[in-house]
Amino acid sequence: MDQEMPIDDLITEMNQGIAAVITNEAEDGVVPRFNQAKTIGCLRGEFRVHDDIPPELKHGIFSEAKTYPAMLRFANATSRDDAEKDVRGLSIRLSDVEGPVLWGEPGFQDFILNSYPALFVATPEDFLGFILARQANQRLWFFLNPFNPHLKALWIAFKSRQNHLCPFDVRFWSTTPYKLGENSGQVVKYSVLPCSDYQTLQAEKPGRNQLRAAMKAHLQRYPAKFHFAVQTQTDPHSMPIEDASVIWDEAVSPFRIVATITLENQDFDDPEALAECEASSFNPWQCLAAHEPLGRMNQVRRLVYAHAAAVRNRNQE
Ligand code: HEM
Repeated sequence: MDQEMPIDDLITEMNQGIAAVITNEAEDGVVPRFNQAKTIGCLRGEFRVHDDIPPELKHGIFSEAKTYPAMLRFANATSRDDAEKDVRGLSIRLSDVEGPVLWGEPGFQDFILNSYPALFVATPEDFLGFILARQANQRLWFFLNPFNPHLKALWIAFKSRQNHLCPFDVRFWSTTPYKLGENSGQVVKYSVLPCSDYQTLQAEKPGRNQLRAAMKAHLQRYPAKFHFAVQTQTDPHSMPIEDASVIWDEAVSPFRIVATITLENQDFDDPEALAECEASSFNPWQCLAAHEPLGRMNQVRRLVYAHAAAVRNRNQE
């Protein structure tokens, strides 16, 4: 593992590296995201907090049974071609959220998730190493540099890339931890689990945009549904806050369902809707204090995501 750096230095170096990478990748005046760059689609739905959740989990948006309007962005991490193996991303924004937020606009709560339970790197220092390697067009060097190899990262990067037939059938994880309750001392990870009455069994219109086509076909038949669940940290050693590459064992601490997300049939794939989705941005710190992001990895994400979104939007004006 690389030596610990001051947070401010990490943020400055990440911002520079990410800005260089994404401006270099701009196509037709659109600067893409550094991660989860291919927009599959943004969909509107509802996020219903259950009324029977255990009392100790009733904090922040989960403190009472309530239905929030939700916006979900589905994306591919690296590939423009939906038929290829990849890590998928799911970003959720709830609105009508009451109370002060830690960053961003009042009234909104974001959740940012990936389709694998661990991040490929353990620390923000390792993530910076990856950004710099990507900037130098030497991604493989980051993993295989004999003086500082990242073989576990290579293994996770390999395992986490999978073929999928429809994002509505994919399970997602936050990979990094969050508070549950401002002063409760509870630490949780999030997971979003598919639970629709319908599953895509073969590629819908096979090709570059087959995931978008599959979502459309699914919604024309049935609503899409997911459960939202939290996993409580029960052992700080085997469930660390400061190593995003460690999967917290579900046999030791199972995920508990606290809400259901439902998406009804809707138009989400016209050029205007896709452009709006592309221009959207999320931030793990767009949240209530009861859901504060924890750990150094999350700490850098506040300013790094904001800076990256500003670079994208500045270039699209
Ligand atoms: C130090 C750690 C990390 C850094 C520096 C980083 C960096 C970034 C950046 C720059 C973006 C694009 C933001 C924008 O342009 O609006 C992004 C997006 C994203 N990242 Fe990360 N990331 C980190 C950790 C993570 C982790 C732990 C996850 C796990 C779920 C994750 C999942 C995502 C997803 C799903 C998106 C797409 C967000 C959207 O829909 O706008 N990232 N990341």
